[in-house]
Amino acid sequence: VKIPLIVGNWKMHKTPAESSVYIQQLKKYISSSRANVMLAVPFIDICACVESVKGSLIRIGAQNVHEKDFGAYTGEISTSMLESAGATFVLIGHSERRQYFGETDEMVNRKLLKVLQSSLTPIVCFGESLSDREAGKEKDVVISQIQAALDGVSGDFLPQIVLAYEPVWAIGTGMVATPEIAENVHGLVRSYLSQQFSPTVAQSVKILYGGSVKSEHMVSLMAQKNIDGVLVGGACLDPEAFSKLINY
Ligand code: PGA
Repeated sequence: VKIPLIVGNWKMHKTPAESSVYIQQLKKYISSSRANVMLAVPFIDICACVESVKGSLIRIGAQNVHEKDFGAYTGEISTSMLESAGATFVLIGHSERRQYFGETDEMVNRKLLKVLQSSLTPIVCFGESLSDREAGKEKDVVISQIQAALDGVSGDFLPQIVLAYEPVWAIGTGMVATPEIAENVHGLVRSYLSQQFSPTVAQSVKILYGGSVKSEHMVSLMAQKNIDGVLVGGACLDPEAFSKLINY
């Protein structure tokens, strides 16, 4: 049986005090869950969350990171800062970072190369826009994003990388991709990795689906061969609702 990786993305929600209350509740609700649960939280909440998850298997990570080790980059944060705060993973290239903060495929690649030098697990997000899909270009877009993100990455590092397919039209819209649409893209990415690296390497990479996932979608999404877990925004903000999704 596959053990799903379920990642909650708080985006710009919750203060440190609120995050502690949330985690105490979540811990209670999911104490018997088999799933691997991770929370991508605002930078300022990381320390409080790391403290609160003690005694549970929940892991805490960040939603963004800078590509340099240190320096005059006002407002940014480095991999070593995240590690020392107790984060164990980081999202890279979320579509909101690409859309509102100008992150390009090249930046995603540089961030990934930096994160691979640290102890953090990178979760690299990719996915086509609605106009890409309407134009029938979703496969090309997705493969070119993956190709660019993995530029210069050796196959030895692939097993440490998590990929997250998040079609932009499905994020925060309530328009979850059908399991077939998601499985199609995941399968495509898996066979691309198999060609570029090897079938063994391709199998070792976890590929998550994200975009309007709610608890009622879990059974059919997780039944797909190439879907290893989910990245959840809106439906993770309430601990009780999120626990239903985790305990699907
Ligand atoms: P959503 O967000 O679940 O609210 O659609 C997913 C994400 O952006 O990671």
